[in-house]
Amino acid sequence: MIYLDNAATSFPKPRRVITEICRCMTHYCANPGRSGHDMAAKMASNIYETRETIAEFFNIQNPLRIVFTSNATEALNLAIKGLLKPGDHVVTTAMEHNSVLRPLKELGGIRISVVPASKEGKVSAEGIRAAINSSTSMVICTHSSNVTGTIQPIKEIGAICRKNNVLFMVDASQSAGIIPIDVEKNNIDILACPGHKSLFGPQGTGFLYVRPGLHPIPLRSGGTGTDSANLNQPRYLPEGCEAGTQNGPGIIGLREGIRFINDTGISAIREREIHICGLLLEELLNMPKILVYGPANQSEKTAVVSFNIKGTDCESTADQLNRHFGIAARAGYHCAPLAHKAIGTFGEGAVRLSPGAFTTEEEIIKTVNAIRKISG
Ligand code: ALA
Repeated sequence: MIYLDNAATSFPKPRRVITEICRCMTHYCANPGRSGHDMAAKMASNIYETRETIAEFFNIQNPLRIVFTSNATEALNLAIKGLLKPGDHVVTTAMEHNSVLRPLKELGGIRISVVPASKEGKVSAEGIRAAINSSTSMVICTHSSNVTGTIQPIKEIGAICRKNNVLFMVDASQSAGIIPIDVEKNNIDILACPGHKSLFGPQGTGFLYVRPGLHPIPLRSGGTGTDSANLNQPRYLPEGCEAGTQNGPGIIGLREGIRFINDTGISAIREREIHICGLLLEELLNMPKILVYGPANQSEKTAVVSFNIKGTDCESTADQLNRHFGIAARAGYHCAPLAHKAIGTFGEGAVRLSPGAFTTEEEIIKTVNAIRKISG
């Protein structure tokens, strides 16, 4: 199959990720942080090493401020439900995923301002500044859209948040591992990342970074392996928010994914992405029957190309790509309805192609030819 659904989950994974998960599962996969025996200690130290690897990658000063979650959705839920309180005002954007919009709505009692985006999916830092008022407690912004790939100006937004004393949370679901993120330089107080996308970990991994001084209320209570005689859920991080047995092998796989990025070079990955996805974008932009959404310049976006064939339903296009050409695409609303409203595809959706670090030029050419055939 030609796998062009990396914005959902990256595939394939680097060999070292699979090797290390297998090594862990074969030799030392005990329960970390509970028992004191050698295997449990080895598991715990490997998990801590992952915290350190993540901390270094995102310039996080204290690895213990990283909470492992099962995906970015859980990380976003933890921050939204664990840090906001009724009466708070939150500024977010039209390019957010439902994993931000739904928990905000569910929380109730929160006033929400949604900053609009341009037709290319761009949110302006000025728009964020204008939406902040004296009761704003948090700004939540995706770094890069899962619908158009549009990269948002998080550095400028972070500076505005800091100046206005407002918490800044970045959803880095589509950018972590592709665009360097420095939480200090960008004034990011809270960072939510999936492990299974461009960080090359397995599904079931993700994390939330919460800056010192913030104390999220855990989403769940239970065993933490610490303070066990106390019936109250500890509030200190990371254990307080990590109740229950962790996805140890997954977390170790995530560490290897980040090490793969470090060894390959994040800028080399990004350059290759610009080349491969840029090729796809350029070809589709030149086809008269194709409507392409988002920025026309690949350097302004991550590796996502959303399009429609004029007069053809997006689900039907994706289905034909799958059945007749063995090409994996994602069609519909991509769990981001407001983003589709912003780009003018609400009511019809779009087909999304998302190449990954291992997509070849040959695969892109085959995909372009397939779309040419489908569009007649
Ligand atoms: N959020 C993921 C996507 O965009 C699953 O496909």
